Amino acid sequence: MPRNLAIVGYGKMGQLIERLAPEAGFAVGLKLDIDSNEDQQGITPENFRDIDVAIEFSTPHVAVDNLVSLCAIGVPTVVGTTGWYGELARVKGFVDQSSAGVVYSANYSIGVNVFRRVVAEAARLLANENEYGAWAWEIHHSAKKDAPSGTLLQLVEEMKHVGYSRQIDFSSNRAGANPGTHEIGFDSAADTITLRHTARSREGFARGALKAAQWVIGKRGLHEFAEVLFADDAKVMRRPAD
Ligand SMILES: NC(=O)c1ccc[n+]([C@@H]2O[C@H](COP(=O)([O-])OP(=O)(O)OC[C@H]3O[C@@H](n4cnc5c(N)ncnc54)[C@H](OP(=O)(O)O)[C@@H]3O)[C@@H](O)[C@H]2O)c1
Repeated sequence: MPRNLAIVGYGKMGQLIERLAPEAGFAVGLKLDIDSNEDQQGITPENFRDIDVAIEFSTPHVAVDNLVSLCAIGVPTVVGTTGWYGELARVKGFVDQSSAGVVYSANYSIGVNVFRRVVAEAARLLANENEYGAWAWEIHHSAKKDAPSGTLLQLVEEMKHVGYSRQIDFSSNRAGANPGTHEIGFDSAADTITLRHTARSREGFARGALKAAQWVIGKRGLHEFAEVLFADDAKVMRRPAD
């Protein structure tokens, strides 16, 4: 019996989630776009009566309001929208008060989540090697609204979290149709280390979000996607705000 999925935000990611949902064991029971959900008017107990879980990919300025409404009616939710992490503490507060679990991530690609761990380990090992400087760079398609990307900010934050306290020079480009490239480098007079993740398409993000949707049903609290992926690994990395 497929689980019933609501898609909140029916843009590029929402439409991809719809296409891949059946192979992840979901039937799409509800789709909300800007017209059906202006000021969260579509997030009602009636609309969500038969819904098991929601996946939210909208825009940075409405994502938190959508989450407030989804939590208020107890809908387990996977949020993919980026650009709102300054409000993470407030979001954790209302998620903890609700009966619904929420998974968030700046990047639902499994490869990127492994990349985050590799970057953090390199930063930890070079934390006290003062001759090395670090940079962080990303490029995305020209329609992406936030810059730097949430993934780049998270990589930099995690480098600091593991003890890399020197300056990290970072920059972003927006051009063409690039689905997302992230690069972290370390440079000294003797050598350069370049770590790069290149997404080939958006499918990896959609598949990861659907995996998180299967996981979050029946859970409570706010969870980062790494907890879903590395649940059996004692070394799960948490953001400092967790
Ligand atoms: N975490 C990840 O792995 C990941 C991966 C890819 C993208 N993202 C992020 O996910 C978000 C969406 O990406 P996208 O490429 O799908 O963007 P998109 O194509 O612009 O789609 C966003 C959609 O949300 C709609 N929307 C606006 N307000 C809404 C509301 N109140 N309720 C429901 N829908 C509303 C927009 O409608 P209008 O166009 O009419 O305003 C648009 O169709 C962005 O923040 C992006 O950075 C995250």
